[in-house]
Amino acid sequence: MSSENEQIAQMTEKINRLRQERQAIILVHNYQIPEVQDIADFLGDSLELSRMAAETDAEVIVFCGVHFMAETAKLLSPDKTVLLPDPTAGCPMADMIDAEKLRRFKAEHPGVPVVAYVNTTAETKAESDICCTSANAVEVVASLKAEQILFVPDCHLASWVQERTDTEVIAWQGYCPTHQRISPDAVRKAQQQYPDAATIVHPEAPKEIRDMADEVLSTGGMVRFSNQSQADEIIVGTEYGMAYRLQKENPDKTFLTIPAAVCPNMKKTTLPKVAQALEKMEPQIQIPADIADRARNAVERMLEVR
Ligand code: 13P
Ligand code: SF4
Repeated sequence: MSSENEQIAQMTEKINRLRQERQAIILVHNYQIPEVQDIADFLGDSLELSRMAAETDAEVIVFCGVHFMAETAKLLSPDKTVLLPDPTAGCPMADMIDAEKLRRFKAEHPGVPVVAYVNTTAETKAESDICCTSANAVEVVASLKAEQILFVPDCHLASWVQERTDTEVIAWQGYCPTHQRISPDAVRKAQQQYPDAATIVHPEAPKEIRDMADEVLSTGGMVRFSNQSQADEIIVGTEYGMAYRLQKENPDKTFLTIPAAVCPNMKKTTLPKVAQALEKMEPQIQIPADIADRARNAVERMLEVR
C-alpha cells in the first residue's frame, strides 16, 4: 500500500471508531474529495441531504459540504449537534445576497413572494417565503401559484426555471463562480471528441451551456441519469468532483469532466479535519433562535412540496 493510501486507511479507521463513540452520521455532498465521499453514511445532493438531516436519529451530524448545507441541517435538526469540519468552507454565491439586500429587493416589489435557493445563509432564508434546491426549483415555484416571484440569488437557476413556468421570475443577479467557468469551447471540444456522448449539465450553468446539454439535472439527478443511461460516454457539466461517484457506480462508462469547474470550498474538507471535528465536537453550527425559527419555515415549506 502506498503511504498515501496507508494514511487514508488509518484516518478512516479513526473516523469509524469516533463516529460510533459519538453516535454520529456523516453526510457528504457529491462534490467532496474521493476519500471523504468514501466515508459517507449518506452521499447526495442538497435536497437529499436536507431530507436525511431531518430524518436521522443520530445525535451528531458531521456535514461534509459547505456552510449553507450544514446550516440547513441544523435548521431541520435544531437539537442535534451539527459539525462542519472546516468552518471556512463557504459558498460564494450564497454570499452574493444578505438579509439587508433582500429586504431592499422586497421593498422594490411589495407583496411578491420570495423563493430562496437553498444556497443562501440562514439570515437570507429568514427573509424568504420558501426555499428550493436545483432538484425541486420548478415544483416549488409552481406550488406558489403566483403571477410573479422574486428568486435569489442564482440568476442562472432562475432563468432555467423561467423557461419552465408561466410565473414571472424576477431574479437576483448572483451566480456560482464554479459553473460560470464552464466555457462553451470546453463543452464543444468534448462533444466533438466524443460525438456519441450524452451531455449533462447543472442548472447553475449559464444558459449558453445548458442549451448544449441533453439533460439539465441536480447532482442527484446526474447520479440517476448516469446509472440508467445507455450512453457509454457522458460529459459532466458541473463541479469536477462529481465524476468520482459517477465513475465508481458505473465502472464501464467514461465520464468527461470540465477541469476548470472546481469549487475550492468543496475541497476544504479532509479526513484529518473530519476526525478532529469528531474528537473535539467542533466547529459546531449555531443559529440565533429568532433567525432559525423564520428560516426553518422556509426550508420546511420546501420539504412539503413533492
Ligand atoms: P445540488 O443540490 O444539485 O447537489 O447542487 C448543490 C450545489 O452547490 C451546486 O453547485
Ligand atoms: Fe457554491 Fe458553486 Fe461551490 Fe456549489 S459549486 S457550493 S454553488 S460555489
